Amino acid sequence: MNKMKSLPGSRIGVLGKGGAGKSTLVAILAQALHRRGYDVCVIDADSTNFGLPQSLGMDSPPKTLLDLYGGMVFSGGVVTCPVDDPTPLADPEITIDELSRQYYAQNDAGIILMTAGKIGNHGPGAGCDGPIAKIARDLIVHNGNGELVTLIDFKAGFEDSARGVLTNLDWAIVVIDPTIASVEIASDMRAMIDQIKADVLPATAHLESPELVAVANKLYTDAKIKDVFFVMNKIPDQETEKYLREKLAQKDIDPIGSISEDSSIPAAWLKGTQIQAKNAFAEAQKIIEVLEEGTAVSS
Ligand SMILES: Nc1ncnc2c1ncn2[C@@H]1O[C@H](COP(=O)(O)OP(=O)(O)OP(=O)(O)O)[C@@H](O)[C@H]1O
Ligand SMILES: [Mg+2]
Repeated sequence: MNKMKSLPGSRIGVLGKGGAGKSTLVAILAQALHRRGYDVCVIDADSTNFGLPQSLGMDSPPKTLLDLYGGMVFSGGVVTCPVDDPTPLADPEITIDELSRQYYAQNDAGIILMTAGKIGNHGPGAGCDGPIAKIARDLIVHNGNGELVTLIDFKAGFEDSARGVLTNLDWAIVVIDPTIASVEIASDMRAMIDQIKADVLPATAHLESPELVAVANKLYTDAKIKDVFFVMNKIPDQETEKYLREKLAQKDIDPIGSISEDSSIPAAWLKGTQIQAKNAFAEAQKIIEVLEEGTAVSS
């Protein structure tokens, strides 16, 4: 089917304000995409959060890719911070069938999850998660039978974006909860992606070596990101949705869909159980239809 063509093999990053519902949308979209016939891989790229495997019905997280790639430079490992060292991760392409089983989890449906890395357990003073962002920036996952849709759950805010993770995404989805902060962040995120698409170069005044400046510039001029989509979440009623849509329209933002507020979602995050909100799945199917259309047009 023609429509399906653009999503398999693509990397879709989910971004937005802290607590807006990035991880929730990832868990819902992953399951909804799977139900629609896609092979799905989720990358947990939030270095400080927990619970994503359980939200997808997995018992426990896999060993981290940071371990696979040799640990972070701050602890004597090899993976560097992309701000100081924009050079690519060595061997960023992973094929599931060739990967040691300990580095991925899989739920009953077959959805795959990998964890980029967590900073909580690396000792005092090892609190910079730049190397984890580099893994999230560069990692490309393949499977044996066709191509995966990769969904990446990022850490809140702009830090990872400023570290270059947007450059290697095909599409970004910004989650917007009904707050002024979310509206502002959505607008800033759109501006940043527009700048990348317009080949505006990154901040490199801190880099002494001209070679590294060239690497950083190339990362941005070669950036593959095609577009950004916006999804509203935690919408309690139509009045709120209407108001939020108006505020977003003032910033020229037209969301492709919304997920309603649903009390089963916080319950799942509290208990560590799979997110199975029926209404949200129906809303996610609509979002996927728009994504299929939108990505086909802009690819
Ligand atoms: N549609 C929804 N209805 C009700 N509660 C929701 C909904 N989406 C998210 N929540 C609740 O909001 C909180 C934050 O959600 P979530 O963890 O998905 O956000 P996040 O953007 O990933 O947060 P963080 O920035 O901490 O990673 C959770 O407690 C979750 O249960
Ligand atoms: Mg999250």
